[in-house]
Amino acid sequence: MDENLTASELVRDDEVFLRMNFAERLQHILLIVTFSTLILTGLPLVFYELKIFKSLFAFEKAFYFRGLVHRAAAVLMIANILWHFLYSIFTARGRHNFKEMIPKWRDARDAFQAFGHNIGLTGFLYKKGLLKSFFERHPFWLFRTEPEFGRYNFIEKFEYLGVAWGSLIMIASGFFMWNVELSLKLFPLWVHDIFIIIHGYEAILAFLTIIIWHMYNVHFNPEVFPMSRVWLNGRITGHELRTLHPLEYGKTVEKRKKALTPSK
Ligand code: HEM
Repeated sequence: MDENLTASELVRDDEVFLRMNFAERLQHILLIVTFSTLILTGLPLVFYELKIFKSLFAFEKAFYFRGLVHRAAAVLMIANILWHFLYSIFTARGRHNFKEMIPKWRDARDAFQAFGHNIGLTGFLYKKGLLKSFFERHPFWLFRTEPEFGRYNFIEKFEYLGVAWGSLIMIASGFFMWNVELSLKLFPLWVHDIFIIIHGYEAILAFLTIIIWHMYNVHFNPEVFPMSRVWLNGRITGHELRTLHPLEYGKTVEKRKKALTPSK
């Protein structure tokens, strides 16, 4: 093996890696379709006084039809989640992805570091000569560099957790809203009312999270603008791996180095 082989020679910037395979892309597309349908057929119930919804559901039976579509999309969403669940248990790739998605202490530190880096306050104080000796003893607090991420960064992990937690809440509350008789048999009326309130507010929260946060991270973030195409073709280049997921890049380099080392 050539000891002088550098990382970039082992993983070229123009090399193409598979970040999302076909099954993962299909799960993501199904999530987009079902989530959008559920939002479009659910929010008109929360904001029924808005003119746009009144005119959209002006014809007879339109509201009834909306309810049917909502339920059909809910069943498809649950089926998709079950598929993802089984995929994460029974396939090696699914298990690997899931393991990489588990939040660690390092993610909290990364979030803190990214926040400090973006705000830039400590660097400003240091420049002004404030707390100089503290910062010299503890340079981390200057947040000079951005954190380095592995396969999934803390934002992606948080979004995944949000989808998991949000889906659980929507499925549980939606189930009892669908089966009112069962719900009233099991719980007092006020509990059922809470299901309706939770279902409505969690829907608004999820909608805002996707529109503001997810859209920023995958579209408007200057690092990926105009759009990360991973969800369409599943591909990521060596350059993107090196700049966006440097720890995963490092692991890939190490693996290749090992593969090139003659076994003793
Ligand atoms: C992320 C997924 C979902 C979103 C964004 C969503 C959104 C909504 C919203 C905003 C409402 C109106 C709540 C209100 O009246 O205050 C609603 C109603 C309802 N949802 Fe969902 N929902 C989702 C998933 C589900 C699931 C998984 C089920 C079933 C298991 C379900 C069943 C229902 C039912 C039965 C209603 C009652 C009214 C109707 O549509 O006829 N929803 N949903």
